[in-house]
Amino acid sequence: MDSVKEQIEKLKKEKNAVILAHYYVPGEVQEIADEIGDSFYLSKKAKESDADILVFAGVSFMGESAKILNPAKKVLLPVPEADCPMAHMADAERIARMREQYDDLAVVCYINSTASLKTLADVCVTSSNAVKIVKALPNQNIYFLPDGNLAAYVAEQVPQKNVICNDGFCPVHKKITPNDVLKAKEFHPNALFLVHPECTKDVLALADFIGSTSEIISFAERSTAEEFLIGTETGVFREIHLRCPGRALYPVMEGQCCEGMKMITAESVLSCLQQESGEVTLEENIRCSAAHALDEMLRLARA
Ligand code: 13P
Ligand code: SF4
Repeated sequence: MDSVKEQIEKLKKEKNAVILAHYYVPGEVQEIADEIGDSFYLSKKAKESDADILVFAGVSFMGESAKILNPAKKVLLPVPEADCPMAHMADAERIARMREQYDDLAVVCYINSTASLKTLADVCVTSSNAVKIVKALPNQNIYFLPDGNLAAYVAEQVPQKNVICNDGFCPVHKKITPNDVLKAKEFHPNALFLVHPECTKDVLALADFIGSTSEIISFAERSTAEEFLIGTETGVFREIHLRCPGRALYPVMEGQCCEGMKMITAESVLSCLQQESGEVTLEENIRCSAAHALDEMLRLARA
């Protein structure tokens, strides 16, 4: 009997399928992926792919984004119920009220959001391009949702604009407190502190580097430091270890784990490929209007 990995390899060839995996999924899933990356990289790869089937090893908004960008392809989620709580933390009525209040408002929607929230946005962003895109927009007033922490970070980086912050949050990043960071720094005084902008402002204030998951990984790779304190989901440890073996990596605290991402296993990827289960379907009107915001993101990120 072939191993799970061998069965997946065979099915991928047979069905012309590719596996896209986010850095936060378990190592056994990253190992079988064709592409591993942050949200921006994976959405570009999803758009460019010529496979017939895209298996998205990630939470549901990621599969939805892949489908929005690739309507003709079959997009499968190994665990469709794996969800990101923050993706739902904004509401249509508040967006409508903001649009009434500001004539020139741009609604900027973090890619960590449901397809229906994306339909209400002018443009999407990821953590690696949010600052660049908000700067590039002609609008003076920006309503940034759902993540209030990333919004506050963007507001600080783009002080020339009025960035209105929504109050959504990522539970994984929000639970890291400045006190946890200071304690961890006492244990590891030589470690550089690398952090994701979904953390709170007072945690970001203690950082040596702030960036998306792939930016954190590249920073560690380029740095001459030997030790890093990592302020994001610990799934990124695998890639840092691969790129720069021998570096010491520490989480700030226990439990820096995304529940949804950790639901994906190699077994679930295999059974999804075997049965072609977990297919992402979206109503065409929702798909089309959400596509506008994602296409705008890809266009402005290229500019
Ligand atoms: P990245 O855009 O850095 O991949 O972040 C995704 C995410 O879910 C962070 O919580
Ligand atoms: Fe959502 Fe946070 Fe998990 Fe990212 S880490 S998918 S923002 S819950």
